[in-house]
Formats: sequence, structure tokens, C-alpha cells
Amino acid sequence: MINELIIPKPDDMHLHLREGGMLKIVSQHSASQFGRAIIMPNLKKPITNTSLAHSYYDEIKKHTKSYQFKPLMTIYFNEGLALEELKKIEASSKIIGIKLYPKGVTTNSNKGLDSLQSGYNIFEMMEELDIPLLIHGEVNDTNVDIFDREKIFIEKHLIRAHKEFPKLRIVLEHISTKDATEFVKESSNKIAATITPQHLLYNRNELFLGGLRPHAFCLPVLKREEHRLAVLDAAISGNPKFFLGTDSAPHKRSEKESSCGCAGIYSALNAMEIYAEIFDRNNAIEKLENFCSKFGADFYKLNQSKEKLKLTRSKNKVPTVIKIDNGDVVPLMAGQDISWNCSNI
Ligand code: NCD
Ligand code: ZN
Repeated sequence: MINELIIPKPDDMHLHLREGGMLKIVSQHSASQFGRAIIMPNLKKPITNTSLAHSYYDEIKKHTKSYQFKPLMTIYFNEGLALEELKKIEASSKIIGIKLYPKGVTTNSNKGLDSLQSGYNIFEMMEELDIPLLIHGEVNDTNVDIFDREKIFIEKHLIRAHKEFPKLRIVLEHISTKDATEFVKESSNKIAATITPQHLLYNRNELFLGGLRPHAFCLPVLKREEHRLAVLDAAISGNPKFFLGTDSAPHKRSEKESSCGCAGIYSALNAMEIYAEIFDRNNAIEKLENFCSKFGADFYKLNQSKEKLKLTRSKNKVPTVIKIDNGDVVPLMAGQDISWNCSNI
């Protein structure tokens, strides 16, 4: 039995750090476990250009001074991205890619795109400049059943975009279906996907376990068991196209426990312990290192970290709530026992 792992400091390839008082606390949670993280641009005022990304970078660095933590910034895909701006993005060592939200699909996405095709002229320039495109892969048509929105997005939009721009690196974010795992596996090595802990842990029953569970609500929404099993299988398969992205997305408890609760699950404080727990429960702990410290870095053409993180098998408990700013956040697996602890060495 493996009781200790020492791995290169992992990368969180999909993270929401928010702003203000929330940013100050949650950025430190991430920095204590991860060496780098790809920072999502969906702030209330989205990060739509290089200059906003650089200021946000400085703010994150200010709050994480006592850690070796490198935020990898993203730009919110918008129709104003002209060649000159794309060249600046490509040249910036602080910016890693461009994140595309179909309009209205999730938190702060109302400035997103209505049709993927309207972004094709920008995809063409991104392909040329080799700037990765990160996609929230769900259709925004509210007539489509919410459990089918990822599958339909792949069928209607993603397959076509990948054909039109075969050299464009695309990351399908937070995959939640068997269909997504199949698409990624069958496509060229320009296509990869991030996987969250919640999509590995739960199927959609979790949303209604003894009552309505707002803290299990995220987008893409949890799916049937067959989909969870396919995503789990992809994560522990050792296939380099699948790598860690927590999608840790804090919302205050009052905004989740509401008549119209926000989508997003907070996991940053114990993310690595939770992934270790999941891989271990599925007899795949030896597959964790590449999933969290190598495959993502390789896809984004980054060197692996020289810093180390130690994971030890020992009793641990996820807190029931975390005090953040002037409110509480209820984390993933709140109050539950886990068997792994992290420390920096
Ligand atoms: C995220 C958020 O709250 O910013 N929410 C979520 O449910 N995952 C946005 C996102 O990644 O969809
Ligand atoms: Zn996200």
C-alpha cells in the first residue's frame, strides 16, 4: 500500500479566484497546494484584454507573496480580439490562453458568444499564433435539456470547429459526459480536457440526496452514473489528454442557498487531498502524479515544477464551512473524513 507520495508541485488548469476579499483568501488556499493555476476571466467585469489580465495577475501575486505560485492568466473571448491584441496575448509570459463562454451558460457569461461560428475569424488567428482556446462546452439553447447540453455542444459545434482549425489547441473544460471523453480520446493531440473532483465523485443523484443540495450544483451539471464512470475512467487511465482542473468556484453560502442558487463548487482548500482520495479509492494512486503535475504542463508547453508537494496517508477532515470575506463558503465534501494530507517540502 502506498502511504506517501512526493510529486512535482501540481498545476490546477481551471480555477476561479474571484476578486476583492474573496480573492485574498481563496488565492492562498490554491497557492498552498498548487505551483501554478489557470485563472478564469469571468469576473463581474470580465478580463477581456492583456492590460486587465496583467493587473489581475499583479493582484493575485500580491495576495500570494509567501508562496511560489504562478497565476496563468486567461482572456475572456470577445469579438473585439483583433490581431494586434492577440499578438500581445501571445507575447505575454503571464497569459496562457483565451477562454470562451457561450453566452449565458454559466456564472458571469452574459458577455459570451451566441454562436461559435462568429468566433471563427479569431480562431484562425489563434491557430496561427498557437494560442490555446479553452472552452466551456455547453450549448446555451435553453430548449435543450440541461443534461444534454455538453453532448449537443460537441456534436453541433466542437467537432466542426476542430475540423476547421485542426492545429488550434483546444481544452474542453470540466468534462461531465461519456460523450466528451470519447470525443477527446478520438480527436488529435490538439484536443485535451480538464476534470474536476466533483465530476469524479458524484452522479446527479447527489443533487437530490434527501432534499435539494445547492452545494452540489455546478455547471456542467452532474450527470448519470455511466457518465461519472466514463470521466473517472479517463482520469485514471494515464491518457495525457486528461488532466486536473478543479473548477473551484466559490460562491457565498447565502448565494448558493437561495431560490435561484449560483452554480459552482468550492474545492481549492483540500483539492489535492480530495483528488488523492478519489484516485486511491479507485486503486489508481500511482496515476495521480502525471494527471496533476505533468499532462497539463505538457499540453500547455510548460516545464514541470521543480518544487515538491508531499501527500501522506493520514486522517483528515474537510471543514464544514470556511470563513471568507464577510460570509461563509461550504466546500466540496464539507465535514467528511478523508485519508490524505498535503504538505510542502
Ligand atoms: C463557475 C463559476 O461560478 O464561475 N461555475 C461552475 O458551476 N462551474 C463557472 C464555470 O466554470 O462554469
Ligand atoms: Zn469554471
